[in-house]
Order: sequence, then C-alpha cells, then structure tokens
Amino acid sequence: MQAVSFTQMKDGTREDYQFLAKHEQSHMDGTVDRVLEVLASLDGSFSGYQVSRLGHSLISATMAHRDGADIDWVVTALLHDIGDQLAPCNHDELAAAVLRPYVREECAWVLRWHGTFQKIYYIHHLGGDPDEREEFRASPYFQACVDFCERWDQSAFDPNYNFEPIAFFEPMVREVFARRPWDRDVLRPGEVIGLP
Ligand SMILES: [Fe+2]
Ligand SMILES: [Fe+2]
Repeated sequence: MQAVSFTQMKDGTREDYQFLAKHEQSHMDGTVDRVLEVLASLDGSFSGYQVSRLGHSLISATMAHRDGADIDWVVTALLHDIGDQLAPCNHDELAAAVLRPYVREECAWVLRWHGTFQKIYYIHHLGGDPDEREEFRASPYFQACVDFCERWDQSAFDPNYNFEPIAFFEPMVREVFARRPWDRDVLRPGEVIGLP
C-alpha cells in the first residue's frame, strides 16, 4: 500500500489506519532531527542583541550544564526559545508544547511561562507590567521559573561567554526525545526539584 484508500476519514478501513499508524511512528522518530534543525536556524533569528538566538540558547544550556543541572534542565535551557521562529507572540507556549511529553512537568511549566517571568527585567521600559508573574505566585513551580530566568535566561547574552556547541548537547536532546511520550516516571507531576 502506498497510500490509504479514502478521501474522507470516515471511510477509512482498519487496514488504512494501521498503515497510517506505521507512517506516524517514523514521522515521530524524526521529531528530534526537526527540533535540532529549528535550533540551528535560530542563528538567523532576531537581530539587535549582541548574540544570536542560537548563541543565547547555547549560553543558557552551557550555564545550566556547568551549574550541574540535570538533563531535563539542560535541554529545557537549550530549547527554551525555539518558539521564536514560528510563534514570536507566544514563543514560550510553543517550546512548552514541543517538550511537554518528554520532560518533567516542572520544566514544561517553566518553558510555558518564562516569557511572562522575563518581563520583570525589561517591560517597564516599554510601558508594561513587570510584575505580571505575580499571578502565578501560588504555583509550586514559581520559584523554579524565577531562578531559571535570573540564572539561565536574562543572564545569557554575553558574546564573550565561552559556550559549548550544538554537538555537545545533541546526545542529551536525542536522549530526551527517545523517551516514551507522557511517561509519568519522566513527567513526575507535582514534583518540585528546582535549580541546582
Ligand atoms: Fe524566551
Ligand atoms: Fe531566552
């Protein structure tokens, strides 16, 4: 079979859907390669800072790694801005959606809200509310997001910082995306580990 028999989903047979399930798995297996391509493409994203978006991401991940952070944190730091390419208005949400099935819930939460938490550093210069993060004060992950932004995000824009290349982090990214999606032993819902 090269393609399914139907032109409307409701007409598909069991054979059609079993055929598609196999295709979907090989597509899923290629996710990590596509994520790494998007990461590399950040080199051409967003001008004006002293480092490219890729440089910022590598500095962030290198800082996390040198602080002794575990693999979930390092990959979170590395990929936290991949959403900039397709979702500049809600880049944090896109990164969280990509990583949520594969990392600790704590890290996915930090990914989801880091854009809001980052505002404390600059948004008053643009007439916004720097304390927008306060609405999340009751979250168990609040402090982790505060720390992530302070230590590995707002601080990761120095062009003289000696960071590791993508190749250094690639095995970690591959390990994370090789996990069984939505595995509760990985997600560890509600567990607060925090930054090292
Ligand atoms: Fe960001
Ligand atoms: Fe960032």
